[in-house]
Amino acid sequence: MKCLKAGLLAVAGLMLAWSGLASAADAINGGKLYARYCENCHGGDGAGRIPGAPDFSRGERMLQPDSTLVDSIKNGMGMMPAYRGQLTTKELFDLTAYLRTLRR
Ligand code: HEC
Repeated sequence: MKCLKAGLLAVAGLMLAWSGLASAADAINGGKLYARYCENCHGGDGAGRIPGAPDFSRGERMLQPDSTLVDSIKNGMGMMPAYRGQLTTKELFDLTAYLRTLRR
């Protein structure tokens, strides 16, 4: 019985480790969120559709670390609304991973 318990614990541990891996930023999911929440202002190619929006296709603002970009999206900036409470931290990191793919 004791042995079975230890086995189950080991399996649970492995599953935890696995889900940890699966939570790495996912640019594909970020792309779906981008089309829904961000494209209206930032454009499909990231070049920006409204005055004042940075040109992500030229890497503008992208020299900042992910955590800084996530904070800006979470808190809003200038014309950009705050997404705190609307998007999870995981989704915000997925979005940042996607933004980094827009550079041409
Ligand atoms: C209503 C238009 C609008 C929407 C919607 C919008 N943005 Fe923005 N975003 C802007 C503008 C304008 C700026 C420049 C703000 C400034 O510098 O004052 C900006 C800036 C940014 C920056 C640069 C932040 C920094 O620290 O320099 C990032 C990253 C960004 N937006 C990502 C996103 C993402 C991701 C979404 C979707 C979840 C989004 N934006 C939705 C208008 C928008």
